[in-house]
Amino acid sequence: MDDERYTGIALRHAQSTLAEEVRQALTASKKRLPCKYFYDPEGNALFEQISELPEYYLTRTETAILKRDAASIIGHCPLDLALVELGSGSSTKIRYLIDSCLARQQELTYYAVDISPAGLENGTRQLLHDYPRLCVVGVAAEFEDGLGYLATDASSPRLVAFLGSTIGNFAEDEIAGFFTMLRRHLRPIDRLLLGVDLIKDPAVLEAAYDDAQGVTAQFNLNILVRLNRELSANFDPATFRHRAVWNHERSRIEMHLVSLRDQCVRIADLDLDVDLRQGETIHTENCHKYSRSGMEWLLTRHGFQVLGRFTDPQDQFCLFLTS
Ligand SMILES: C[S@@+](CC[C@H](N)C(=O)[O-])C[C@H]1O[C@@H](n2cnc3c(N)ncnc32)[C@H](O)[C@@H]1O
Repeated sequence: MDDERYTGIALRHAQSTLAEEVRQALTASKKRLPCKYFYDPEGNALFEQISELPEYYLTRTETAILKRDAASIIGHCPLDLALVELGSGSSTKIRYLIDSCLARQQELTYYAVDISPAGLENGTRQLLHDYPRLCVVGVAAEFEDGLGYLATDASSPRLVAFLGSTIGNFAEDEIAGFFTMLRRHLRPIDRLLLGVDLIKDPAVLEAAYDDAQGVTAQFNLNILVRLNRELSANFDPATFRHRAVWNHERSRIEMHLVSLRDQCVRIADLDLDVDLRQGETIHTENCHKYSRSGMEWLLTRHGFQVLGRFTDPQDQFCLFLTS
């Protein structure tokens, strides 16, 4: 990007592990694919469409909370703050936090960390145009590597925003690792803002991940198209069906791709043949839902102190501010 207020950093690890992770995931006894690989340029564009669907209450609810409470959230943070966003996507919601920061400080640096380099550039270009007092550092990296990179730049206090209920993608064992990693990287002067989708009527949840227009289905199937392109696979997306189902025991929506027939898929770059029976699924994403007390317990257990909870009037979504 040709702007002196933009610094682009691409870290070695971002996306470089695709081949090995796909091999492991598709040769496991229960086939799966890591959801971080949804986000190629087509996946980013589809996620933006999902964000605007009537069924997908998550984005508009979290946005409304930020719009209402950004000033109060920033008011709980030290002065001369820098903003960090993990999984920044289109960098839309962060605008409310940027507005509140710039209302009380002259300049601001926003570190956007995302696995998708294309998404980063698109998301931050308009921000630079709209905010002349903003500098942006776009870090194309996985969450941990991105935070590790930021540790080398240890000046201002930071508010680390992890929005969009992306925390819900972690399984029970992964969330402990993620919080431990975050705790290691956050200093006492830093703050964490975590967007969490709350448990609700399973019908509402299932509709959010299986919309009437079929955009989420396209988003799910697009991962196969990506593997065709990037690993010379021969998946025929028409032979798979999107399924989103509420798993009550594990308190999560699961997204799967169901094979509509017995088939053998060749992944040439991995020299791998994947056999699928009719009805067998590839598990592509988990979206865990929490009670407020459940998430608060997890945060506290991992050494975070909850400074504020910000919820919508229907209690659908909660933003936790912690130190
Ligand atoms: C569910 S979207 C949320 C986007 C945005 N934060 C929002 O609230 O609308 C998840 C974002 O995290 C990024 N992402 C997913 N897994 C990642 C990983 N392991 N490391 C870095 N970024 C990741 C994706 O590229 C995507 O932009």
